[in-house]
Order: sequence, then C-alpha cells, then structure tokens
Amino acid sequence: MTLISSTPLLVEARKEGYGVAAFNVHTLEMLQAVAEAAEESRSPLILQTTVGTVKHLGIDYIVGAAKAAAKRASVPIALHLDHCQDFDLILKCMHAGYTSVMIDQSMHPFERNVEMTKKVVEVARALNVNVEAELGKVGGVEDDIHVDEDAAALADPEECQRFVELTGVTTLAPAIGTAHGIYKGEPKIDFDRIQQIAARVDVPLVLHGGSGIPGDHVKRCVSLGMAKMNVATEIKNAFSLALQRSFAERPDELDPRSYMAGAKEIVKALAIEKMTLCGCTNKA
Ligand code: 13P
Repeated sequence: MTLISSTPLLVEARKEGYGVAAFNVHTLEMLQAVAEAAEESRSPLILQTTVGTVKHLGIDYIVGAAKAAAKRASVPIALHLDHCQDFDLILKCMHAGYTSVMIDQSMHPFERNVEMTKKVVEVARALNVNVEAELGKVGGVEDDIHVDEDAAALADPEECQRFVELTGVTTLAPAIGTAHGIYKGEPKIDFDRIQQIAARVDVPLVLHGGSGIPGDHVKRCVSLGMAKMNVATEIKNAFSLALQRSFAERPDELDPRSYMAGAKEIVKALAIEKMTLCGCTNKA
C-alpha cells in the first residue's frame, strides 16, 4: 500500500468508537517496530515524527522509510508531523509525502491560531493531507516545546466548535488535562469536558500525552470521541532503557544488529499493548 491521509482512518475510528494509536518514532528500528506491531495486530497505524526528529533524520529519510513500511504492510499507514509551529516546514513535509500535519499555534491567541490553521488547511486540502490543531494548552515537554503546569489550559467547548467551523480543520486536539511526558501522579482528565467538546464538534478528537495514562482512562477517553492517541515518551524510554540494559549485560556486544533487535522487540510489544487499549486491533 501507499501512505494514506489519516483523515479516513480517524473518521472511521470516531464513528466506530475506537482510537488509532499514533507513535512518535526517532530511529529506523522504532519505525519498523510499530509498523510490525500494526501488521501483527491488524491495526491501522499513524507514524509520527516531531520537528526535532525531522531535523535529526531528514525529511527524505523519514518519508522514504515510512513509504517502505506502507509498501510492505497490508494495513493502512499514515505519516504525521507532530507539533509544528513553522508554516514553511509544514509545506515542505506535505510536499515531500507526509499525509498528515499538526499546526500548533496553541501558544498564541485564538484569532492567530485560527488564521494560521486556516492557511495550512487550504494547502492541505489540495494535497489530500489531514490537518490537526490544538486548542487550550497541553502541558509538559515535547521536544523543545515546554509548557509549565501553570501555563497549561483546558480547551473551551464553545471555542472548539467555533474553531472547527472557522478553520475547516479535519482533526482537533483539545487540551483536556493530559500532559506530555511521564506523569508525577495520575493525570486529572476532565471527562465532562471531552463529552461537551464531542457534542459540539464532529471531527475526530486527538488525545495528546498518551504515555502513562491508566488503561481505564484511555478507554473512557476513546469512548467519548478521542479517535487518536499520541504516544511518545513511553516508547522512547522503553527503547533507550532496553539498550542501556543490553550494554550493561553484554558490554562486549558491539554489533548494532544484535543490540537493536532486543530494543525493537520491546517497542513492538508496547505498541501492541497501546493499540489494544485504544481498541484498534483487527480494525485495519
Ligand atoms: P507523551 O510523550 O506523553 O506520550 O505524549 C505524546 C504526544 O502527545 C505527542 O504529541
């Protein structure tokens, strides 16, 4: 298959009441691990990269590897650019083969967020690319975007409705109490707010900060209309810790094909766990 827009995957997920897991990958092995997890569990998949990873690997390498994964797969795969504030980079990624992008203007006033999102939607429509935007401010750390706990703000349901109407955005990430990174305690998810937003907005909703959310909370979010769950920190940490363990146990092992294999398997197992939690296994 070829890479497809995430819009049909997410529209279907919202309609059928499940979520599609979206994984931030930073290396070829991480990308292969989540693609194999999707194939094995018959799940649709959204591969994601942050702006930092675009700088680290290069757009061409990422698109090349994602296309190879899609070609091998019998399940649908989309490639998404996570949290991007740079319009020019979004254009470059869309033209290079990304099938979904996030324009993140959540740090700016509502009007500016609307204006920039609208600009991206106009181009994306012509290229059949999905667009995600954020309302409210999701707290925590994602790449070099840091949002302090006091600066985090929940999305307003009425604003969400106006935002979707004004921009034509195809997926919306409203801040509802989750945060990027590992939680200190349990996240304080505002389920009522999700319900109110979902009642006013019919585009698929996106749950950010998917690492460390208790399983029953994930299921409740999904049942309320969260059709995509982003997972970054948990798979990054699992990959790195597996490598650390491998070097501690076998300090003389200098072959990346050997030590990477174990780390890849750990990410794959974790990805299947998250897909199962979102309810997207056997939905491909
Ligand atoms: P985590 O790092 O908490 O998994 O958040 C991922 C995310 O929302 C990426 O946009």
